[in-house]
Amino acid sequence: MRIALATAIAAWEQDADLPPLLEAFARAGIGAEALAWDDPTVSWSRFDAVLLRSTWDYAVRRDAFLDWCGRVEKATRLVNPLETVRWNSDKRYLADLAARGVAIVPTVFIESDRDLPRIAEQSGEFVLKPSVGAGSRHAARFDPTQAAEADRHARRLLAEGYCVLLQPYLEAVDEHGESALVHIGGRYTHAIRKGPLLPRGGTASDLLFAAEDIRPRIATDAEHSAAERVLAALPHPALYARVDLLPGKTGPLLLELELVEPSLFFEGSEDAADALVDALVESLQG
Ligand SMILES: Nc1ncnc2c1ncn2[C@@H]1O[C@H](COP(=O)(O)OP(=O)(O)O)[C@@H](O)[C@H]1O
Ligand SMILES: [Mg+2]
Repeated sequence: MRIALATAIAAWEQDADLPPLLEAFARAGIGAEALAWDDPTVSWSRFDAVLLRSTWDYAVRRDAFLDWCGRVEKATRLVNPLETVRWNSDKRYLADLAARGVAIVPTVFIESDRDLPRIAEQSGEFVLKPSVGAGSRHAARFDPTQAAEADRHARRLLAEGYCVLLQPYLEAVDEHGESALVHIGGRYTHAIRKGPLLPRGGTASDLLFAAEDIRPRIATDAEHSAAERVLAALPHPALYARVDLLPGKTGPLLLELELVEPSLFFEGSEDAADALVDALVESLQG
């Protein structure tokens, strides 16, 4: 068995999950190698499966990425599969999950100029971000006095072809941080705390991914239940899933569900890397 771990040229050797994951494959006696999705010289059919890992630049060229996923899926097994990636690579999936009863961060979807007046209705701090996004790129936090600036930011994103998400800034993140609960093969493995990322004043990061303050976290019972409700509502299969939660007034709210290329924080969680290898092997044999 041979497995390709898909990263990106732009992320080359920056994915801290790859060394522990490669070690886990070696422990299981399985050949695995990291390759960039955007390296045109790779023959993906050589592999029994292509496991998406740090394809972090998909958000800036989603169509090309989905085309590539489609080609890989014709040649071999893609994990997570194309249908899952297509659905999950645009944050409008939040609306689907809300319709299935998941408690999400309250979100207005700005699809065109006509929806822009919703920005001026905000009474507290708020966030604008593209519906196709990762690594906090183009996510920005504003206060109500900055409606004009926010309007310009939203127009810029619309002009680039994105739908724009408008959310209240959930300020409990400043204290509690964000909780990311990792699930592999449908089972919880571990959680981390991510510190707050958006500075006051409407500055948006233009980097591929913003620097993050990551620590281990013991998830609360409420966070576990929230994550389980999200996973029970999935419309498509997922071998790995990361559920990112922010504290709301009535309990944890879904900020993001990551089924494409989430960091899974394997450093210090070697068991979780082994679990991913086991789950992948089982899915290929089943
Ligand atoms: N509504 C919000 N309230 C508070 N912080 C937010 C909110 N939306 C985003 N953030 C912050 O911005 C970061 C990036 O936003 P996120 O929705 O996770 O997009 P992505 O990680 O795909 O770029 C989050 O990790 C969080 O720190
Ligand atoms: Mg995020």
